Amino acid sequence: MPEKPWDGRFSEKTHRIVETFTASIDVDKRLYAYDIEGSIAHLKTLEKAGIISEDETSTLIQGLVVIKREIDRGRFEFDESLEDIHMHIEARLLQEVGKVAQKLHTARSRNDQVALDVRMYLRDNVTLLVEHLDGLRDVLVGLAKANIDVVMPGYTHLQPAQPVLFAHHIMAYYEMFKRDGQRLAGCLDRINVMPLGSAALAGTTYPIDRHFTAELLDFPEVSANSMDSVADRDFIMEFLADASICMVHFSRLSEELILWSSAEFGFIEIPDAFATGSSIMPQKKNPDVPELVRGKTGAVFGDLMSMLTLMKSLPMAYNRDMQEDKPPLFRAVDTLTACVDVYTAMLPRLTIKRETMQAAASRGYLNATDMADYLVAQGMPFRKAHECVGKTVGYALKKGKELHELTLAELQTFSSLVKEDIFDFLSIEQVINRRRSFGGTASENVAAAIKTAEAELKG
Ligand code: ARG
Repeated sequence: MPEKPWDGRFSEKTHRIVETFTASIDVDKRLYAYDIEGSIAHLKTLEKAGIISEDETSTLIQGLVVIKREIDRGRFEFDESLEDIHMHIEARLLQEVGKVAQKLHTARSRNDQVALDVRMYLRDNVTLLVEHLDGLRDVLVGLAKANIDVVMPGYTHLQPAQPVLFAHHIMAYYEMFKRDGQRLAGCLDRINVMPLGSAALAGTTYPIDRHFTAELLDFPEVSANSMDSVADRDFIMEFLADASICMVHFSRLSEELILWSSAEFGFIEIPDAFATGSSIMPQKKNPDVPELVRGKTGAVFGDLMSMLTLMKSLPMAYNRDMQEDKPPLFRAVDTLTACVDVYTAMLPRLTIKRETMQAAASRGYLNATDMADYLVAQGMPFRKAHECVGKTVGYALKKGKELHELTLAELQTFSSLVKEDIFDFLSIEQVINRRRSFGGTASENVAAAIKTAEAELKG
């Protein structure tokens, strides 16, 4: 047998530098379990088609099981000259069971083999990610529920805008991560398609039952076009796009936690176990976890860009370029999983400084819109009310007071429609609890949203 499974027509040995350059084993060895599972299903398919005997099938399967155990236990020797995980396993099988191993690669090519392995890997990892995201949502609901009466300033343009419940703010992230989970679950439909049996590109001459292979490997669907099966990686691009969107959400939450834990905001404290100190400034406690999550967001965007650029303009069908799909894929899966897990561990342990948040929500004229609404309720047109409150705010600013700190007489110089009941009307509780439109921050709405979320997570 030639030294490499493909070098029959070669008259010269591969240059060392080329061996190193083309090898992907360091990266793709993590596909070994899928590769072996796929090969076992392939052997059963070959047997069913009468291409190999029952004895051969069981010998080969036993050999593969031994190899799997070796790799599981770290007792397998990897060698660059064998390029990738597919060739490593096949070469080791030859040592283990002898010449019959040469039958394994009948009716398939590494092109459909690698497409299968990656799809199996991604379906497992996306399924896990969806579960972990459920866990994160659970923690967000817990955080909202435990702080249901905490009030904070809501911002637009990072300027204090209107008071909201802290729980409402947190439940906004619940919604974002819920959609992320839905997007990932949706992309599973496209991942879960079985490509094996497409062979190099054109299909195979052997009478194999690809639907049988799909059944063995628990794929609900078989790829419909052999060229598409080996040529496309859109399921990876889709995953990376979904992962990138999820990372955008993480980066926003991270940015907020970083701001909130600053001395200037002081809304939260990050637990010591999730922060680090400075090697020079003894007083420092840095929000490294959210900072790193924010930083890693860029890496995942980069992975998406790598993949899009890698696939752009590639002629059909398989091209070796596509071997480069694995580093960005694996990195994004690892990064996103790590971010979900570290946030799930950290969020329940945040200290919520309710007094600071409440004090911040009581300053900065966050009830100005409500004063305008008050005047509208007394019959003043909204534009006029806006102007009147604007003038009142201008006056209050000069006096260094909040609207609700002005006297009734002061308020009445701007409009005679203002009565004693304005003070209750402008209280934070009333300002919040008047926002009862569906999805608004009123306590009863937020409590209902938490209930709905709890039911979703149970269901
Ligand atoms: N290591 C290759 C990859 O990951 C496997 C497929 C190789 N196919 C080929 N025709 N050289 O894409």
